Parts: sequence; structure tokens; C-alpha cells
Amino acid sequence: MSKISSKSSNAIDLENKYGAHNYHPLPVVLSKGKGVKVWDVDRKEYYDFLSAYSAVNQGHCHPRIVSTLVQQAEKLQLTSRAFYTDALGEYAKYITSLFGYDKVLPMNTGVEGGETALKLCRKWAYKVKGTKKNKAKILFAEGNFWGRTLAACSSSTDPDCYEDYGPFIPGFEVIPYNDLTSLSNALKDENVAGFMVEPIQGEAGVVVPDEGYIKEAYRLCKEKNVLFIADEVQTGLGRTGKMLCSDYDNIKPDILILGKALSGGILPISAVLSSDEIMLTIKPGQHGSTYGGNPLACRVAQVALEVIEEEQLAKNAFKLGEVFRQEMSSIIQKSDIINTVRGKGLLNALVINDSPESTTALGICHALKDNGLLAKPTHGNIIRFAPPLTISQSELLKCCKIIEKTILNFKN
Ligand SMILES: Cc1ncc(COP(=O)(O)O)c(C=O)c1O
Repeated sequence: MSKISSKSSNAIDLENKYGAHNYHPLPVVLSKGKGVKVWDVDRKEYYDFLSAYSAVNQGHCHPRIVSTLVQQAEKLQLTSRAFYTDALGEYAKYITSLFGYDKVLPMNTGVEGGETALKLCRKWAYKVKGTKKNKAKILFAEGNFWGRTLAACSSSTDPDCYEDYGPFIPGFEVIPYNDLTSLSNALKDENVAGFMVEPIQGEAGVVVPDEGYIKEAYRLCKEKNVLFIADEVQTGLGRTGKMLCSDYDNIKPDILILGKALSGGILPISAVLSSDEIMLTIKPGQHGSTYGGNPLACRVAQVALEVIEEEQLAKNAFKLGEVFRQEMSSIIQKSDIINTVRGKGLLNALVINDSPESTTALGICHALKDNGLLAKPTHGNIIRFAPPLTISQSELLKCCKIIEKTILNFKN
């Protein structure tokens, strides 16, 4: 491991002394980002292969997004939803037409998007479907991750997420991921109102379900008048090689949750999209957020979406994802440290040939950092690779060489 400069160690010490220890960052102190690269306080350059967990799909400090942010920040930032603004309606029209929904409910973080989707689902169950009061059930898949609120912990199967945070929210049931028989059985319960699922489980380690799983899961839900809720906070917005990962299955989720790259990494912005039938079950005063739908966020989200469209980032992710997996497969031939590469578009992971308790993946991430590429393990023995979607083929190939060199020289 390379030595840490005093500038870096001072920043690390400050964070450790005064900040809560709810994260365990790699020992690198970043102070600048541009496109696919970030720089540390000692001006060392790195390729960012995490993209803030896929929030920075458009690249760091995208000039169009930054200039929109600055222009709007100088004009009007926050009014609350107590008043109309000249930004929200325009943005709502843009995002609903882009994804083909009647309405959008704007929130801030991804987890708030998830909470909103669940509240909409319960409200719809009672107001439209006719579920008996307080009986509505929502299904989740094992290995799901949708944030850190108590509702998200209540549906989690990861002890780090839920341990010692009980008691938990009732009305949630967890079924195995990628298992249509279990879904079909769970749907026999007439109180089931919704199934919330990630088309690829990002935090679980880029777990890609069998082809056709999402399509059939959607069909089974439709058959039982159950809402199919797609959590595309991580997989959406070009990341997996399509605008939405559920586009691979040609389905239109009843409720779609977006976040992260909806701002290009500039602000916490999330959105829930749905039909009038579902969305209008929530009346004024029944849900909201002080910052949700603020004019700054609306302008930023709109331009962030325009950038994805105009720069054809989904197409680039599709094409370069194939290149990345091919390159990784050739490394696997030469090294027994790596088991598999999996993913779609530019959401990929390498599974390390070691147990989840081992420190191999973390050691590789430290070595990658020393060689100028930033990535982090997820679930112990899996390394996620998710560069900004603006990366070029030549940059990607350079990065594959860094990964190859690091892995072939790696000693535990
Ligand atoms: C699929 C998915 N949903 C929701 C979230 C929560 O987003 P946030 O951290 O912005 O609350 C995440 C975060 O990683 C996620 O991966």
C-alpha cells in the first residue's frame, strides 16, 4: 500500500475524529473531479470506477449541469411546495413524457423515492383495490437494497442493514430473488398489493437475474392486480445500457423509482413515476418533502436527463459494457484470483475467488487505488465497476489494463 501524505492523513483524522463511523472509506482524500477522473489532495489522478454508486453517470462536474445549477441558484432555489414555481411543471412534463407516465412525485434521496412508492402502493390498495384496512402486504426480494430508513431496514435481509434496529415495520414479506415459483406462491395471498424489485441487484453485488425473470414477474403481478414497483435508482438512467434496465424486458412498471444520476451527482434528487390511478390516491397534505421538487432540483434533473439522452450515454454504456466484460474474461483466463465477471452495460462486478469474509477484494481495491483507479468491494468478495457513462473506449481500455496489471501482480 502506498504511503499517505500528511495532507491526506489530516483530512482522514478529522473525519474519523468528528464524523460518525458509519462508513469505512478507502484511504484516499478527493478534492476535484472532472468527467471520468477525480484527483486527491496531492493532485494524484484516478479513474472513478464507482461514480458515487452510479450517481455520476454523466461524469463529474458536467459543464451543462453545473451551468444550469449556477444559473438557477442565482435566480430561485427553494420555495417549498406551498407555492407554484415556473420550474416544477416544466420538469414534470419533461420527465413524464420521457418515461411515458401520467405523473411524477419529486423527492430527494433514493430511499425517499422507495418510501414514496410504498406509501402509494398501500394507499392504492386501500382506495382502489379494496384491500381491508391495514392488511396490505408488499413483497421484496432477498438481497434487496433500497437505502437506510426503518422501512428499508424492515425489508432487508442484510444483518448490517437491520441488526439492532428493530422493531420493524409490518406488512412486508421477503421472497427469494430470481425465483418465479416463490413469487407466484406469494401472490396467492390476496392482501399482496405490490412487489418492489431491482431489475439487477446493485448493492447485493450486481446480481443479474435470469433472462425473462423481470418480464414474467411483471406478468404474474398483472395477473393478480398487484403493482410492480421497479427500483431503478441504481440501474436506471443509462447505467445498464438502456435508459431503464426494465426496458430489456419491454415492461412498464406500475411505479418507477429513480434517483442518483437524476441529478448527475450534483444534488440529491429522486422521482417516483406512475399513473393517475395510483398517483392521485395521495391527496394534498398526505405526503411530501420541504425540498422535493424545488426549482433548483427541477432544472438540474431536467438537464441531467437531457445530457443522458443527447450524449447517448445508454448506447455508450451498452457498447462499452460488452468491451469491459470481454476484457475481464480474458483476465480471468490468466488469473485464478477472479471467478467471474457479471453485469449489464457499465454496471459490472468481478467476483473474487475467496470467501466474503476474506480481505482479498479490499486488498485489490487498495492496489487499484495505488495504480490510479478507484473501486470498492461490496459484500466482501465482490468488486463493483461502474465508471461514468461518458467514458470513451480508449479510456476504458486503459482502465482494463490497470485492472489487469493490478490483478496479475496482486499478492495476498
Ligand atoms: C437500488 C437502490 N435503491 C435505493 C437506494 C437508496 O438511495 P439513497 O442512498 O439516495 O437513499 C440505493 C442506494 O444505493 C440503491 O442502490
